[in-house]
Amino acid sequence: MVSNTSVKFFCIAFFVKVLIFMTPSSTYAQGSPNSSKTVDDFCNQRSTSEDRAFCLTVLKSNPRSATATDNISLLKIAKDLAVGNAKKTRDFFTTLTKNNGTRPSLLPVLDECISAYDESITELLLVTQDLVDDPPMTAYDAHVANQEMNRCQDILKTNGVSDDFILSRHKIASDYGRLIEEIAKSI
Ligand SMILES: *[C@@H]1O[C@H](CO)[C@@H](O)[C@H](O)[C@H]1NC(C)=O
Ligand SMILES: *[C@@H]1O[C@H](CO)[C@@H](O)[C@H](O)[C@H]1NC(C)=O
Ligand SMILES: *[C@@H]1O[C@H](CO)[C@@H](O)[C@H](O)[C@H]1NC(C)=O
Repeated sequence: MVSNTSVKFFCIAFFVKVLIFMTPSSTYAQGSPNSSKTVDDFCNQRSTSEDRAFCLTVLKSNPRSATATDNISLLKIAKDLAVGNAKKTRDFFTTLTKNNGTRPSLLPVLDECISAYDESITELLLVTQDLVDDPPMTAYDAHVANQEMNRCQDILKTNGVSDDFILSRHKIASDYGRLIEEIAKSI
């Protein structure tokens, strides 16, 4: 004889299955809740698979990307994220200069990178200001912001810095710099 409990269990299990079937398929079909055609169209045109992946990861990390309908919106989103990342990277370098475990030969290198990041942040902030005040300057601001990131890279290279905890942080910031410049050029 089938017990009352197993009948109940069967009923509950059946009900749960029906519920799962009834959940709108769109929640599964949509790869990311923060994506949009504008994001995919822009990112998928970048030349390397690494750049495409970085672009998608960055833009999809922000819910504003879901409603972006033009590349100007993407530029604003990327700029906000880039500023946040550049500030974090600069602050990390500043912390290293104050850490008595940091080897002395690294200090002037870090100081120059901190100054390059400061300049880059200033230029990144100009990107959105010029979008309103002086649109033709936008791509130039983005270019200078990226150049300042490259200045830090040159300083690290010239001084033979190979510490991964510095290079990996810088690489992300510099990937943002290139992304911003590419978006700015597209508008
Ligand atoms: C979408 O945005 C939310 C809120 O900012 C965030 O928590 C989530 O990680 C984002 N999704 C992806 C795929 O990055
Ligand atoms: C954004 O830029 C990409 C790459 O240049 C371009 O293919 C796309 O048409 C642009 N999107 C819009 C909405 O202008
Ligand atoms: C290095 O800094 C720590 C605290 O940050 C301190 O305790 C330590 O004494 C310092 N070492 C030297 C050699 O100054």
